[in-house]
Amino acid sequence: MARPTILLTGATGQVGFELARSLSRHGELIALDRAALDLADADAIVATVRQVRPGLIVNAAAYTAVDRAESERAAAFAVNARAPGILAEEAKRQDAVLIHYSTDYVFDGRRTTPYEEDAPTGPLNVYGASKYDGERAIAQSGARALVFRTSWVYGARGSNFLLTILRLAQERDELRIVSDQSGTPNWCRTLSDATVAAIAHGVPWLAERSGLYHLASTGASTWHGFAQAIVGDAPRPRVVGIATSEYPTPARRPAYGVLSTRKFEATFNYRMPDWRDALAACRSEMQPVPPRAD
Ligand SMILES: NC(=O)c1ccc[n+]([C@@H]2O[C@H](COP(=O)([O-])OP(=O)(O)OC[C@H]3O[C@@H](n4cnc5c(N)ncnc54)[C@H](OP(=O)(O)O)[C@@H]3O)[C@@H](O)[C@H]2O)c1
Repeated sequence: MARPTILLTGATGQVGFELARSLSRHGELIALDRAALDLADADAIVATVRQVRPGLIVNAAAYTAVDRAESERAAAFAVNARAPGILAEEAKRQDAVLIHYSTDYVFDGRRTTPYEEDAPTGPLNVYGASKYDGERAIAQSGARALVFRTSWVYGARGSNFLLTILRLAQERDELRIVSDQSGTPNWCRTLSDATVAAIAHGVPWLAERSGLYHLASTGASTWHGFAQAIVGDAPRPRVVGIATSEYPTPARRPAYGVLSTRKFEATFNYRMPDWRDALAACRSEMQPVPPRAD
């Protein structure tokens, strides 16, 4: 199988970092961080893709600050909507395939059963709207592209719920965590592994499977359940469930964002792990948390 040139953006992000570690097995990898390619700079995107001439583009970069996006709408749309559109147009021009990630926040969360790919969207916040516009821009470009919607990403590095809870668990006797938002936590390694498994079939095979996929661990939780799973059964801190209304944030979030991964699993003949197993696997690679002094 010919080794494609793979252009990876967002190489220092949670998913991007994992992809940067493993994609070189599947092609000539050009992994770029924000300093090397700023996705807010449309001209730079065009120039970079034309210079690298990739067979596959994997866009792991995104504006992911959900609350800040409410006051930085233009920045969120530049990176999450305009940039994926340009990447897709350039991919089409060069007959390359694009892999891009989107979010469960494209949905309004009024469902109570897992979302299939064709469920109606209705983002509640600027981040979700910008990611949805990115999906549309890719679809409208006519490029051969795979869009993987995922949710609640965490890992051993970066800024995420797992690391926040581990820190707070050392500092506080009680954690008050939202228990009326349901979704599925995803270890960034899980998402990278599934992406790489798809890529391993080869770019032409991938190209024939262009489309929208939900990519997530199986099972569901709430933020409260996720926090409880992180803290385990230690007596302290106590993890207390609260309503979203008790934890106001600038961005509204969907009450339900569980994604059905049936299409991804069937298309790529790949089994997604249960979120609790993935969490355990992630924790097993991290430094053990020292017991609290009290
Ligand atoms: N995080 C989640 O909970 C979550 C949930 C659902 C879907 N997703 C989607 O999953 C994908 C991967 O997310 P993630 O959790 O890995 O994100 P992340 O850890 O926040 O990483 C995002 C990456 O994008 C880069 N980036 C931001 N603005 C950029 C710009 N203007 N130019 C170039 N690079 C830029 C960041 O660089 P810096 O480090 O320099 O800022 C970072 O490397 C994204 O498409 C995201 O929307 C994430």
